[in-house]
Amino acid sequence: MLKNVLKWFEDRLHLTEVVGPSMTHPVPRSAKWWYVFGSMTLVLFICQIVTGISLSLLYVPSASQAFESLEYITFQAEMGWFLRALHVWGSHLMVGAMTIHMIQVFLFGAFKYPRELTWICGVLLFFCTLGMAFTGQVLRWDQDSYWGLGVGMSMAGRVPWIGPELVHFVLGGPIIGGEALSRFFALHVFVIPGMLIGLIGLHLLLVIKCGINEKPTPGVLVEKNSYQEKYHDLVEKRGMPFFPNAAGRDMIACGLTLGLLFFCAMMFGPSGPAGEPNPSFVQTAPRPDFYFQSIFAVLALLPPYMETFLILGFPILAIGTLFLLPFLSGGGEKHWRRRPISVAFVLTLVLSLGTLTYLGYLAPWSPVMDAWSGIPTPPAYVKGRTPLQLQGAIVVQNKQCRNCHMLGGQGGKRGPALDDVATRLNGDQLIRQVIQGGGNMPAYGKHLSPEETTALTAFLLTMTPDWQHEPAAGYPMNPRPTQDPVPPILPDS
Ligand code: HEC
Repeated sequence: MLKNVLKWFEDRLHLTEVVGPSMTHPVPRSAKWWYVFGSMTLVLFICQIVTGISLSLLYVPSASQAFESLEYITFQAEMGWFLRALHVWGSHLMVGAMTIHMIQVFLFGAFKYPRELTWICGVLLFFCTLGMAFTGQVLRWDQDSYWGLGVGMSMAGRVPWIGPELVHFVLGGPIIGGEALSRFFALHVFVIPGMLIGLIGLHLLLVIKCGINEKPTPGVLVEKNSYQEKYHDLVEKRGMPFFPNAAGRDMIACGLTLGLLFFCAMMFGPSGPAGEPNPSFVQTAPRPDFYFQSIFAVLALLPPYMETFLILGFPILAIGTLFLLPFLSGGGEKHWRRRPISVAFVLTLVLSLGTLTYLGYLAPWSPVMDAWSGIPTPPAYVKGRTPLQLQGAIVVQNKQCRNCHMLGGQGGKRGPALDDVATRLNGDQLIRQVIQGGGNMPAYGKHLSPEETTALTAFLLTMTPDWQHEPAAGYPMNPRPTQDPVPPILPDS
């Protein structure tokens, strides 16, 4: 009976013609453990589909409810937190496995003739996966994702001529709101996964049609007129069928990957949601997921005049090189020992990305987000002050200036320490800096009342090392204020 049913399908689908040969197609004997990372990426992608569909049953893609629905999944739904953890760790591991796969392919020269198209397809898969990571982060719709998107969009906004239109198109309006969330939801759930599935099919087809790259031997060159013949010889005479040996290795690797995924999800849990998004919370600093952390560090550490070049020029250069690689170096030596420039390139890339990611997490310029609540104003800075100056000290504390500025050696290091700011700036300059911001400091214009600004300035003007005594000899330009400054005239009040 079962046999008849199977035969009925087989007569129509002719599946054995497709599956049989792809299972038994010969692969080079030298293809060993280095070759499992592609399958690992694939198995992680399948996990992402399963956990993603499950999450979509509870997630509400609307600006007003996304955050709540995530909280519901995380804290109330049965095992919801675990599902979210699996999805986020699946994405981290997938980006990781894919990167290793890509580096391996590059170092083994597998992108060379005749596998150029397999490589290009892989590069497209790489960008689609990063696209999934970015759009997925936006769906978290919390502080981090809101500001991460803000940074991404201000980068896109720098594209010459079409920048603003591009941002408008992606966000569905001039601001990050409900429209933007719907668009990113559609991208994350329909558009990019569709592209991924199509590309993966093509990628696998190419892998079977063009064969798996043999492990390179130093000195054996790829020549376009003889390679196919040699490869054919290699797999037909000395190769072995894909199933069971190579397939077995893939399965073991995939099993270990799943184990690692469950372990990470269990131990480290889901990511966020970290606070409701709030555009008026100017002090926030975006914390992107780790693969975007390096971009973040570059943006923060670069001298401003290089920003536009790097934001626009570097990606074009990098993407162009990736696509053109098999045409720039389609033949010749495959073994990494004979390709020192390629090895140096990979090392530089890995080291610099690693360092930047590390800096992104630890950098002294990143604001210390709890400085305002944790650290009191140093007593010396409140002793003998007028009530207005004391009010100013409270403003500094409440507006969380110390997330970025140190007082008495404590606080963030993104901006200069404020202990002696009155030796550098006078009242007007202080007001201008606070109201208009600039140089990586947010503008506080609308977030401070005139009274607060007055008090703040009064307090900041006491910030000289010798305020208690006579004005310091070295600072004749900014004498100690004898009077509180005149209230500023604000642009729009
Ligand atoms: C997000 C981080 C950040 C926050 C929050 C912040 N600042 Fe700044 N601030 C900076 C940076 C960065 C600079 C340096 C600007 C430059 O180089 O032009 C700066 C510069 C200044 C300066 C000029 C210092 C000098 O020596 O030139 C003053 C005064 C100042 N900030 C006051 C404040 C006050 C008051 C607040 C709170 C209302 C505040 N800042 C909040 C980042 C911040």
